[in-house]
Amino acid sequence: MRSTRRTRPAGQPPGRRRYSHYNRAVKNLGILLSGRGSNFAAIADSIGAGRISNARIAVVISNRNDAPGLEVARQLGLNALAIPSRGKPREEHDREVVAALRDHKVDLVCLAGYMRLLSPWFVQQFPAKVLNIHPSLLPAFPGLEAQQQAFAYGVKVSGCTVHLVDEELDHGAIIVQKTVAVLDSDDERTLAARILEQEHIAYTEAINIVLDGKFEIAGRRVVKGQGAIVKGEGSEVRLQK
Ligand code: GRF
Repeated sequence: MRSTRRTRPAGQPPGRRRYSHYNRAVKNLGILLSGRGSNFAAIADSIGAGRISNARIAVVISNRNDAPGLEVARQLGLNALAIPSRGKPREEHDREVVAALRDHKVDLVCLAGYMRLLSPWFVQQFPAKVLNIHPSLLPAFPGLEAQQQAFAYGVKVSGCTVHLVDEELDHGAIIVQKTVAVLDSDDERTLAARILEQEHIAYTEAINIVLDGKFEIAGRRVVKGQGAIVKGEGSEVRLQK
């Protein structure tokens, strides 16, 4: 990822930072996964079908050598890398992953079943440029086995969330949510399967929203706007298209 800090244009208040991540016509996605990779495959399918029109998958990285998603990536002819995390301090591993993402000029990082917390250092390398998908309606049921948590709790509606990654677990600003009704006839498996169908739709929508860049983030709220303005406490970040 190249981010070019510019001098402040006339009329722009101090404290606002501009980035130019989105200037290239085709953006490079970096996928991080640890498992079967169905969300990754759905993203690849959306790119192939033109539902995501301005992106390519530059690299797929797994922290596990044996992740089935890596083999799917190889079969699709994509760059697929295993960077094992076992036994490594978190940031040391993250530095290897970020180096590989930079080698492949990744603009947007998509976590797709990546079963490893990112270090604050990693998150800072890609400001507002890391997405995650979680199989519940956050902030309900963060963490592992979210579908099972929701089912056991007895909710009548669950779903999935695509959100920006910040330094807390399953916490960043929400880009897209999809709801799924919990049926009396459901068990954990059938509920998880219907949520997964919605995950595959939601991730494509979220990538398009982020790559289009026509949104603003005010506090925690992601809303339509002219450009991606991140309004934090006392500061503002505009992500140019
Ligand atoms: C998905 O349920 C996703 O929401 C969660 O991990 C699972 C990954 O599934 N973060 P897959 O590997 O994409 O099939």
